[in-house]
Amino acid sequence: MSQLPPLLLGRLNHVGIACPSIDDAVAMYGRLFGATVSTPAFDLPAQGVRVAFIDVANSQLELIEPLGADSPIHGFLKKNPNGGQHHVCFEVKDIIAARDAMRARGATVLGTGEPRMGAHGVPVIFVHPRDTGGVLIELMQEPDGHH
Ligand code: CO
Repeated sequence: MSQLPPLLLGRLNHVGIACPSIDDAVAMYGRLFGATVSTPAFDLPAQGVRVAFIDVANSQLELIEPLGADSPIHGFLKKNPNGGQHHVCFEVKDIIAARDAMRARGATVLGTGEPRMGAHGVPVIFVHPRDTGGVLIELMQEPDGHH
């Protein structure tokens, strides 16, 4: 395992919000907050979701809607029919090192543990909320050119 800094978490990249309809959610954020979409909705089959982004001053909201019958969002929307906060995403310098650190530190990485391509075109993993105080945490490889 490669050497990790004491603090693994980099910048807050986005807050993930599950919604039954991205169009309705976008309309609500516009009506109530004057927010506009920065990345229009697109399909992300690898994650079983359709995604759109709303930029805020220092971060983003990731609106996610189920894509396909096997979407992991279906279960969440069953419990939260109007949608709700789904996950929080932090950047990490090295996704493989972060994955290995999560396991070494006793946390469960969802799925096979192989990083999958996330909505920003960089690999991501998810850490099981039972290990993180009930919050689903996404870790994403820091995009190139951020610094
Ligand atoms: Co996300």
